[in-house]
Amino acid sequence: MIVYLNGAYVPKSKAAISPDDRGFLFADGVYEVFAAYEGRLFRTADHLTRLERSLKALRIEFGDVAVVEEIAQTLLERNDLCGTNAKVYLQITRGAAPRNHAFPGADTSPTIYACASTFARPVEKRRVGVSATFVPDNRWARCDIKTVALLPNAIAAQTAEERDAEEAIFVRDGALTEGSHTNVCAAVDGTMVTAPLSNYILPGITRAVIMELCADFAIPVREFPVLFEEVPKLDELFLVGTTAEVMPIIEVDGTPIGSGRPGPIAQRLGEGFDGLVAGAVEGGA
Ligand code: PDD
Repeated sequence: MIVYLNGAYVPKSKAAISPDDRGFLFADGVYEVFAAYEGRLFRTADHLTRLERSLKALRIEFGDVAVVEEIAQTLLERNDLCGTNAKVYLQITRGAAPRNHAFPGADTSPTIYACASTFARPVEKRRVGVSATFVPDNRWARCDIKTVALLPNAIAAQTAEERDAEEAIFVRDGALTEGSHTNVCAAVDGTMVTAPLSNYILPGITRAVIMELCADFAIPVREFPVLFEEVPKLDELFLVGTTAEVMPIIEVDGTPIGSGRPGPIAQRLGEGFDGLVAGAVEGGA
């Protein structure tokens, strides 16, 4: 595997990062995960805008984020991933400096790392649906920044695995915030309901895509908290995200959702998502 590290494309086994890197010491960095369908990066501009916002929030000085698209595209080519589906992981940390909590001086430049690998679209999981589990949302109050400080998310995902669930859904103050690596949407009486953007959720690119699809399909959208106690009454619940795409949840902690089978709104949105992917593959959108 060829990866990108600080300006060079090198075999992954040759990529070395300093033990002084603040990403390692303090989780002082941001990341993005892009999907690339048959060599076409999906929603690149949206990911770059969010990356820019994350960098700004952490006050990491980085030049034009447009360079990231070039890096991602080059990684797809060099790893022979243009004829398949792939994901590109990109991480930018504040760089390497002797361990001090406060930021290092301007002479410390960010560390940029990126890699690409194959991505198997979750087709079967969309067809049959998945189960989820609830966990308390004990994260910090800036979940809107896509930082690499993902320990609570990693523990939540581990809990899900131990409970034989696909995803852990965080619950804060009686409402579902988001999954460990996904946003969460519900359907109630024909309306798509999803948590409003706030400092407690990541502004997901897929969430935005799904809201656009709802507009296209005349599915009403309500950006409103999905309450924990109302879960048994929901018609549908589904995960959305770059790697989850649109994934219906059929059961949470033993409680069936709706009919206990994938519902029509998730199905319609899944088909709409496929249409966008097909369009991107054909037209390079
Ligand atoms: N996760 N919420 C969280 C906490 C996430 O980590 C993600 C993405 C999402 C969905 O965002 P998007 O639609 O932009 O992918 C929501 C990525 C894929 C990851 O960490 O692997």
